[in-house]
Amino acid sequence: MEKIKKEKVVLIGSSGMLGSELSKVFPRAVKLTHDLLDITNREMVFSELSELRPSIVINVAAYTDVEGAETEADAANLLNSTAVSYLAEACKQLGSVLVHYSTDYVFDGTKSTGYGEDGETCPLNEYGRSKLAGEANVRKSMDDYYIIRTSWLFGCHGKNFVDTILKLADEKSEINVVNDQFGCPTYAYDLAVMTKRIVDGRCSFGIYHLTNDGVCSWFEFAREIVFLRGVDCCVVPCSSDEYPSQVRRPKYSILNNNRMDKMPHWKDALKRYLSVGR
Ligand SMILES: NC(=O)c1ccc[n+]([C@@H]2O[C@H](COP(=O)([O-])OP(=O)(O)OC[C@H]3O[C@@H](n4cnc5c(N)ncnc54)[C@H](OP(=O)(O)O)[C@@H]3O)[C@@H](O)[C@H]2O)c1
Repeated sequence: MEKIKKEKVVLIGSSGMLGSELSKVFPRAVKLTHDLLDITNREMVFSELSELRPSIVINVAAYTDVEGAETEADAANLLNSTAVSYLAEACKQLGSVLVHYSTDYVFDGTKSTGYGEDGETCPLNEYGRSKLAGEANVRKSMDDYYIIRTSWLFGCHGKNFVDTILKLADEKSEINVVNDQFGCPTYAYDLAVMTKRIVDGRCSFGIYHLTNDGVCSWFEFAREIVFLRGVDCCVVPCSSDEYPSQVRRPKYSILNNNRMDKMPHWKDALKRYLSVGR
């Protein structure tokens, strides 16, 4: 880790949900939004990074529409896999550390004890496959990387489950939410803070599993959102069979964190999120 001399951080995809929170915790980072750098353009990636010569590149740019990826697998792969190989090759060439994010959807969710960082991957859908291919491209190109897998993100910028439930609860007296898919809700701000700890702490390179602590179903998550908001709306548990979807999703994709301190419990994180200007 002595390789990181003068910390020049470049943040790619800085206007997204996690990118906006990373912008707060890395205030001096060079922030590259999509309009400034399209990571699917190999030439642009190499010329921009060669000019900036960062010590650390944090990539949050991604194709994150899970439903959309089923019909636009090429677009998902271009951004989540091919473009990531451009970043990894450029970082390798420049001696930069790459921080890259991935997902619990690289697992099939059949393991009742959850998945450690070296757990066997087996994505069920195109989004998961494209993210796993991106991980592989990083791992084969370089050694100085942090791949941070996370799940069920919510944050102040962009569409997320919490805001969707708040909107529905305002409009309806009763909402049905699936009670047979389990995961770890994660506040993007907490993940950004943890990312900074990893980078500043010169932690060992490799794969990390970072989510808020605790496990719940989408129903339990929704019930807590409605409770904390104090809205008069009944949240009713239902089965995912009642919502036929083209996309197969893991039932129990718990990411076990064996490398870092626990993050705050998701209920605590949710409370803080709801108290930030909403
Ligand atoms: N959201 C979740 O629940 C979740 C769960 C697990 C893992 N993750 C992972 O966490 C990371 C962050 O997710 P997020 O939800 O914060 O993402 P997000 O809000 O969808 O943001 C993605 C960003 O990528 C940018 N982008 C899109 N195409 C680009 C391109 N060709 N070149 C450069 N930038 C481009 C977008 O900019 P424009 O909008 O301007 O195009 C946007 O700012 C991703 O790696 C995702 O796979 C997310």
